[in-house]
Amino acid sequence: MTETGPNSSPLNVRAMAPLAQKNLSAMAWAYYDSGADDEITLRENEAAWGRASLHYRVMADVENRSATTRVLGHELSCPIMTAPTAFHGLAHEAGELATATATHDAGTAMILSSLSTTNVEEVTACSNGPVFFQLYLYRDREVSRDLIHRVEEAGCKAIVLTVDAPMLGNRERDVHGQFSLPENLKICNLKADEPLSFSSRGGSGLAEFFQDHLDPGLKWEHLDWMRSITDLPIVLKGICRADDAKQAVTSGVDALVVSNHGGRQLDTSPATFDVLPRVCDAVEDECEVWVDGGIRRGTDVIKALAAGATATLIGRPILWGLGYNGQDGVAEVWSMMQRELDLGMALCGCRDVSQITRDLLSG
Ligand code: GLV
Repeated sequence: MTETGPNSSPLNVRAMAPLAQKNLSAMAWAYYDSGADDEITLRENEAAWGRASLHYRVMADVENRSATTRVLGHELSCPIMTAPTAFHGLAHEAGELATATATHDAGTAMILSSLSTTNVEEVTACSNGPVFFQLYLYRDREVSRDLIHRVEEAGCKAIVLTVDAPMLGNRERDVHGQFSLPENLKICNLKADEPLSFSSRGGSGLAEFFQDHLDPGLKWEHLDWMRSITDLPIVLKGICRADDAKQAVTSGVDALVVSNHGGRQLDTSPATFDVLPRVCDAVEDECEVWVDGGIRRGTDVIKALAAGATATLIGRPILWGLGYNGQDGVAEVWSMMQRELDLGMALCGCRDVSQITRDLLSG
């Protein structure tokens, strides 16, 4: 497949990956690119979108189209947001500020990682769009409490609690490379007065950092505790089963994310698209359902919405754009995804997102 245009510029988001790789250290590239164990889920996430067919409608008058949607009450230009991914300073010196600016210029929302290399206050200050904050639960509950209050104060609009990582998955490329954070980068948000770092004690430095700081005792009751200290909407990220989705609704979450952490946690967990319809049916519109994992094309977004999702998240494509060309690279990712979504909607016979319905997946 030809993936570059006449002037060698990338034609799609996948074509940005090798261009980003050229600019990144081998260790940074391995960190972003890898999945857990044999990387079966990593590959399956992408493959599952490709296996589904779109049973398009004809004669539907698609002259005027709009992909705008609402997520947690915020109007977005399209049902695609920036997924939380760690350490943007590894991809480009402008880091999360470049990602946030390009994301908001595209009219959509950014989920900032707890493992960001930029202070949350700087990100929200440079932003003219919603920033949601991804949280891990820390062993030290005071640290979690302070962080929740800090991000609320900084103007973040929701907390996205990651629930699929009581321990870090086994990413053998990071073990092999003894993944460590370079000295010029810091984890800025965990403790306000004490930027943290990690280096390898023999394996993946990040896995060791998780062991030191994250609470593997995470359980449903912790949501009550979170509710007692914040009024922000709470989103659970990392759901793959209908019963967990129902429990999330019972626990009063505002949204959940069907996600397997980009294939980086439990290998051989199902591709997100393969469980999405089941989860959406279980939730019965009681909360929003977002999905990530292997979304690379506008048609993948259409399939996600047809299955019942409100919105999608893209992670690695954003990092490819950032690594390839900083803020401009991320802006290019957004224009590609939005252009493909618009064309896909036209060819499916959909004028707006409400017309992207389940029958598109079966005819
Ligand atoms: C961090 O959350 C990672 O998946 O590496």
